[in-house]
Parts: sequence; C-alpha cells; structure tokens
Amino acid sequence: MADSNVSYNPLPDGERPRPTRRRSIVLVLSGLLVVGFLVALLSDNGSIAPTNVIDNDNNNVNDNAQNGLNDVSSSSKDPERLRPFTSASSAGVSEKSNRRFGARTASYPWTNNMLSWQRTAFHFQPQKNWMNDPNGPVFYKGWYHLFYQYNPNGAIWGDIVWGHAVSKDLIHWYHLPLAMVADQWYDIMGVWTGSATILPDGKLMMLYTGSTNESVQVQNLAYPADPSDPLLIKWVKYPGNPVLVPPPGIGAKDFRDPTTAWLTSEGKWRIAIGSRINRTGITFVYDTKDFINYELLRGVLHGVPNTGMWECVDFYPVSTTGEHGLDTSHNGPGVKHVVKASMDDDRHDYYAIGTYHEKNVTWVPDNPEIDVGIGIRYDYGLFYASKTFYDQNKKRRVLWGWIGESDSEIADVKKGWASLQGIPRTVALDTKTGSNLLQWPVEEVDSLRLTSKEFKKIELKPGSVMPLDVGSATQLDIVAEFELDKAALEKTAESNVEFSCSSSEGSAERGALGPFGLLVLADDSLSEQTPVYFYIAKGKDGSLKTYFCTDQSRSSEANDVNKSKYGSFVPVLEGEKFSMRVLVDHSIVEGFAQGGRTTITSRVYPTKAIYGAARVFLFNNATGASVTSSLKAWQMNSAFIRPYPDDDDERHSGTEPTYEVRGSKTKYLGNLLTSSLLFLNARNNFL
Ligand SMILES: *[C@@H]1O[C@H](CO)[C@@H](O)[C@H](O)[C@H]1NC(C)=O
Ligand SMILES: *[C@@H]1O[C@H](CO)[C@@H](O)[C@H](O)[C@H]1NC(C)=O
Ligand SMILES: *[C@@H]1O[C@H](CO)[C@@H](O)[C@H](O)[C@H]1NC(C)=O
Ligand SMILES: *[C@@H]1O[C@H](CO)[C@@H](O)[C@H](O)[C@H]1NC(C)=O
Ligand SMILES: *[C@@H]1O[C@H](CO)[C@@H](O)[C@H](O)[C@H]1NC(C)=O
Repeated sequence: MADSNVSYNPLPDGERPRPTRRRSIVLVLSGLLVVGFLVALLSDNGSIAPTNVIDNDNNNVNDNAQNGLNDVSSSSKDPERLRPFTSASSAGVSEKSNRRFGARTASYPWTNNMLSWQRTAFHFQPQKNWMNDPNGPVFYKGWYHLFYQYNPNGAIWGDIVWGHAVSKDLIHWYHLPLAMVADQWYDIMGVWTGSATILPDGKLMMLYTGSTNESVQVQNLAYPADPSDPLLIKWVKYPGNPVLVPPPGIGAKDFRDPTTAWLTSEGKWRIAIGSRINRTGITFVYDTKDFINYELLRGVLHGVPNTGMWECVDFYPVSTTGEHGLDTSHNGPGVKHVVKASMDDDRHDYYAIGTYHEKNVTWVPDNPEIDVGIGIRYDYGLFYASKTFYDQNKKRRVLWGWIGESDSEIADVKKGWASLQGIPRTVALDTKTGSNLLQWPVEEVDSLRLTSKEFKKIELKPGSVMPLDVGSATQLDIVAEFELDKAALEKTAESNVEFSCSSSEGSAERGALGPFGLLVLADDSLSEQTPVYFYIAKGKDGSLKTYFCTDQSRSSEANDVNKSKYGSFVPVLEGEKFSMRVLVDHSIVEGFAQGGRTTITSRVYPTKAIYGAARVFLFNNATGASVTSSLKAWQMNSAFIRPYPDDDDERHSGTEPTYEVRGSKTKYLGNLLTSSLLFLNARNNFL
C-alpha cells in the first residue's frame, strides 16, 4: 500500500456503532435481501435497473436486511446447468481447457522435435503439467510473486492447487514449492482463484475460492505463516474458513474469484465476487474490517443481462491524467474505474471504463453500449481469467493473463504441459482516446533484447511479400510502423466498411487499403505463416476505420489446431502512423497495435516453420495502395525460469545448476550472464 494516509479509520462521528451479530445471520439476512432485491429488479425487463440505492442515513446492512425481509420472494435458485462433458464443468468451474478438438479429429503425427519447439523461452510456465489462471500477484519485500492454478498430476485440467514462483523483474523466475494444496473440506475439490491484498501495516491477506467436499464454491482466507520471509513459502489457512458462502438463491457453483480488497472512505475493506442470476452476470460486493467477518452490500456493483457467469472479476482505478498506476484503494478526482470480468460463456475477458460511486456501491460505465461483456476485450485472441495488481515498486498496474492452448489435448499430454502466462503488461487509461486502456509489455521485457536489425522506409507495392533477414526467428521482439500511400488513400472510394477480422478470409482477403503487416513463423515457401496485420476500411464519408488482426488459418499444416482469425477495431488518431509491436516466442505470438489500444494473443503450432526454418516477412496485400514500413527486430534472449536452488551454497556462490541448453550458444551465454546477475541480486537480497 503506497498511500500512507490510507489506514483503518474509525467510523465518522455521529454514526452508530454497529451491533455485533453472528456472521452467519448477517450473511443469510443480507443474502436474502440481495437476491430478493435482484429478483425484483430483473423481473420486469430482464435488466438490472440502476435503482439499488442505499439510504445513506440508514445504511446498516443488518437493519436493511430486516427491513428487506418482507420483499423476499421465494427462492430463485436456478437449477444447475449440467455440462457433463468435462471434468471441469462437472466440478462446477468453467471448462478450463479450450473448446477443442475431440476424439473425432484425427491427430496429426506430431514429432517430439515439433512438440519440444513449442515450449517457450521467455514466457512463464511451470516445468511440466497444466496451468490456468494467475492468482494473487503481488510485490512483497523485494520479490514479485505469481501464484497460479496448477494440476501437479498432468497436462489437463484437474486436481487444482496453487503453484508459486518469484521474480525480481517479472521475467526471470524461480519455481517454489506449491503454496496451497487441497487439504481441507472447504477446498478439497480444488484450491481455486484468489487475490492478494497488502494492508497498510504490510500484512498480506489472500482470499481464494475453495470448492468444498460438496462442490460448493466458498471463499477462504489464507496468510503467510512467516511474514518476514520474502519468498512467502509457507501459507496458513484461517481455521475458521470458509469466510463466505454463496448468498441464498445463488447457485452453489456460481460464486467465485474474490478480488483484491480496496479501502472505503470509512476505512473498511471492500471486495467484489463474480456470480450470475440466470443469464445476468453480476458482481457482489462485501465490506469487511478484518477479512473474517463480511457484510454483503445491497445490490450489485454492476451487472449486465445475457452475459452469463462472471468469473475473475477485477476492479481498479486508472488515472485520467497520466500513465502511472494507482493503488487499488485510490479514489478521488482524476480517477476512473475499470470493471473487468471473464465471461464463462465465451471465455473472453471484457472490460469497461466508468465511474465508481462509493456511497451507493455502484459503478456506471461511461458508454453503456460498450459495457462489460458486450464491448471491449483486453485481447482478441486467447487471453482469459486475467488479473491485475498494483506494483508499488514501480508505481504501475500490471496485468497477468492465462494463455491456453489451441491444439489438441492429445498433443498437450504428449508434450507434458499446457498453457502459458502472457507477458505481463502494464495497463493504463489511454488519455488520448479516453475510451480504452493501453496494454504494453512491462519494460523489463526490453532487457531480453539481444542483437537487432533495423529496416527503414521499405516500400511495399500492392500484392508484395518481402523477406526480412533477421536471423533466427523464433524469439523476437518486433516494432514496426506503416504508412499508406496518401494519394491512393484519397482516391480510394468506399471500401468494405462492414469488415470483421474473424469472418474475413484473413490475409487473403484483399481490399483497396489492406491487409498489410508482418508474416511471422513463416517458412520460406509460405506454406506456413501467421500474418499479423492492419486492414483499413473507408466509409462513404471518407472516414477510415482500422482493424488489427491475426490470421491462424495457415499457421500450421497440422489439422488438429485452431485456425480461426482474430482481431478487432483499433483507434488510429489524426497524424498517427499504423504501428504494431509483436512478440514471438515459439508457440506464442502477442501483437500490440497503436501502443496497446488493441491486442491479440495467439498460440500457433507450425510443423515446418520451426527452429532455423522460421522466417519473418513484410507483406502488403492491399489492391490499391503502396505501404511504406520501417521496423526494428530484436533477437530475444531466453529467460531463466527454474527451481529455486534449495542448496544454500549454490544460491550464494552463483554456481549454475544443470540447465537444458536450447537454441544457440549466444543465447546460452546470454542466459549465463543474466543468471549471474540474477544470483547477485538474489544474494544481495539475502545478505
Ligand atoms: C430465472 O429463470 C427462471 C426460469 O426461467 C425464472 O423462473 C426466474 O424468475 C428467473 N430469476 C430471475 C431472478 O430472473
Ligand atoms: C449513485 O450515486 C451517484 C452519485 O451520487 C449517482 O450519480 C448515481 O445515479 C447513483 N446510482 C444509483 C444506482 O443510485
Ligand atoms: C477456435 O477458437 C475460436 C476462438 O476462440 C473458437 O470460437 C472456436 O470454437 C475454436 N474452434 C475449434 C475447432 O476449437
Ligand atoms: C463436508 O464437510 C463438512 C465439514 O467437515 C461435513 O459436516 C459434511 O458432512 C461433509 N459432507 C460430506 C458429503 O462429506
Ligand atoms: C494475398 O491474397 C491472395 C489472394 O487472396 C492470397 O493468395 C495470398 O496468400 C495473400 N497473401 C498473403 C501474404 O496472405
């Protein structure tokens, strides 16, 4: 917590102290109230009307609960949707593997060589097995901590516990022992997603969802056994767990993923938890003083009809005046709030920017047409169950997102692992447009840059493809700018205003003003290629609309991988060039357009464009315009991601543990250097 003014304030004068009641009663009463109230709201037109006002003079939840008892209608409990196809859905959590290729698709004969190539070099992944959501990211006593949903027993979803890793720079990681395992009745079916909160006195609280012995989703509290241990190796589960159970009327499997807590002006902590009432995705809000006893607040922070269950809700402030991040509790002038939710139904992360009203516990989107779940996404490819944290070390907000696989489960089992974490991104409000966030790889990524090649003002005629000699092309950071020929732009009549990346023919759909961009992970003959590109549509009135897309249709000759096209609109302002940054790391390609206004992450599984055969090209498939491009491409070093040395001598002498050499010698030497530095840092921290 950066802001030292923020502390546990006593209640303002004049306010009655709250009568202490047993937690369970408060929960039941307020739960009944909330559900009864929502039923009333939903029943007339199926939408949540903005009428959930708390009377400020009488906002005691207990009182409200009593007053509200009369309105409570009979149970609105929704019969559980049965989705018996997978272990995940029958366990009551979203199907965490991708909707993928079943037994009906014949499996491509993947070789070990091809499968080994898919493992990434600078993205976080466990040594083996399945990973999903990032959990409890936090900066604590000099270390970045990442916990994650992990199956210690295999490369598919199941037996979920908390994996744990630490880093000095969000790039190089040490794997630590599992932080929490499923060993209590309240989390025996799974230690699911949760978030960390650092209190003003430096204490750390971890709230997480447990799936009980009866598959009920409950919220539990855990904390470090030894707060003086910067590595936070041992965790204690609060003996009184669970601290929250689903409110009455809410499905036992529709109540999960508590947020990081933020302070109210009264000095209480407030958290949000995702749920749904029938098809309306909602966010419950609770206040607590001690992380043990909670008051369910009346109404919801926000809800959107027809969006289904909201998972992994995130709620945080962004500055309207600069790109610096804000502590989660920060509020006041110059602040907007972001609500993000992961839609269980379509498996995408949607956010919206709006205004948070602390007093009546509501959040109102700036533009209801791009509300949560129906408007903007963090990423238009594979990117889900994300979570931000405020990095008090560098005064920024950092976003982690789970990047699943889009190959077959058979292939995952064969390679022994599944899923990555995306490159952590800083997030900030785009103060130029005011209507979207900017997401950008954390600056530490730049430390992996090795040699670079620069290309200036390359002219690409309509229909051209140009190879770029950048050397090995499986670990790259590419920054590219494009300018369209102005004369062509002006003389082009209306063109394809109804364009959509996903329903188009990808980079083979030629328009007057696009597509143009990069082909990554391509082989010499272009039999495999992954285009990352812009496409520009021109309206009758001369207005231009720019799309940023990734086309996986020719990414692989294998048939059992997802070949869809991804992408969306990207704002390009007057005087701006078209710009993109693309990170390529073996089987992951992450694209950031216009400084991070629109992003696309894809997982690609080439069979030929791998190792030394992978190339990069510039292309322009527009029919009516030349494009000029300038770009710089860096070879990227591999990150050090391996077990924390448990041998004290090794840790202190800087001796390398045995390490699987991948890629070139230079890379290996680079790694050794980086790693020595890392050891020095680590040593300094311990001495
Ligand atoms: C949920 O759907 C059921 C069945 O359609 C309906 O009876 C019930 O009123 C709905 N609940 C709410 C809160 O809208
Ligand atoms: C909450 O309070 C704000 C500011 O007073 C007001 O603009 C908004 O309409 C209120 N929302 C609801 C749902 O009452
Ligand atoms: C491929 O991915 C897209 C987008 O995530 C999804 O809609 C589609 O169902 C997937 N296709 C297959 C065959 O899995
Ligand atoms: C689940 O655990 C609780 C608490 O120990 C116990 O009361 C309950 O009977 C258990 N349920 C089942 C189905 O074992
Ligand atoms: C350009 O479009 C043509 C015709 O649709 C297609 O055959 C070709 O593959 C496209 N080029 C690229 C780089 O996608």
